[in-house]
Amino acid sequence: MKVLDAKFVQGFIRMCNDGWEQGWHERNGGNLSYRMKPEEFEEVRDDLSFDGEWKEIGTTVPDLAGEYFMVTGSGKYFRNVILDPADSACILEVDETGSKYRILWGLVNGGRPTSELPSHLMNHEVKKKATDGKYRVIYHAHPANTIALTFVLPLTDEAFTRELWEMATECPVVFPSGIGVVGWMVPGGRDIAVATSELMKQYDVAIWAHHGMFCAGEDFDLTFGLMHTVEKSAEILVKVRSMVPEKAQTIQPDEFRALAKDFHVDLPEKFLYEKER
Ligand code: 13P
Ligand code: ZN
Repeated sequence: MKVLDAKFVQGFIRMCNDGWEQGWHERNGGNLSYRMKPEEFEEVRDDLSFDGEWKEIGTTVPDLAGEYFMVTGSGKYFRNVILDPADSACILEVDETGSKYRILWGLVNGGRPTSELPSHLMNHEVKKKATDGKYRVIYHAHPANTIALTFVLPLTDEAFTRELWEMATECPVVFPSGIGVVGWMVPGGRDIAVATSELMKQYDVAIWAHHGMFCAGEDFDLTFGLMHTVEKSAEILVKVRSMVPEKAQTIQPDEFRALAKDFHVDLPEKFLYEKER
């Protein structure tokens, strides 16, 4: 089968375009990666070429040795993915040491995978282990409301999780484990990848201060939906804070506990602290 006819590729392209339409991908902002299933690799094998040069990932991901990924290219615009996927994205293979990759398809006009490849792959490695291989998608975007909050809220997991849970009743059900926060760091390297993947051991969402957000999930729908839910919640908080300095009322810790019981989710007590008035 041709790569472009594969269902996972169609899903990848649609997700890029959905993110563009949300306004989360100015210029080349954001990147997406998908860990392919063995049967998806077999499906498109005849359309791949295996003579590409092995290149350094910039970190090591031994638990991803021999895995195949679809990834957006560095400097590529999400708005163009739907028009020319073979120019904007690639399929790559991780070598047996987990330190190198080679391109098997795509980036036909040159270029390299996203500069955030170390973060994507280190997050995939953590999630593959933590979910018994279920999680396959890592998504990075620049949604404006979430970024705005990193100038206003304390840069702690507790503050972001609690404030965003309070903004919509569905939030604690959609991201019950909470949200991790990385203080400002230089993007594109191993250090920020290590910090982010450390948070991904606990959370499915990591916010990069003054930069953007990473989400992890099982499939395109769940991962896009997670980003969408967090960003919508951030938008509500921005609106509330624009209207009044203090909320007139909000969801209380015991109400979250009641929600957790009925919706069968575990909400860590560290996020249900009493607030000072
Ligand atoms: P890339 O174009 O290299 O994917 O970088 C975009 C980005 O958002 C960096 O954080
Ligand atoms: Zn970014």
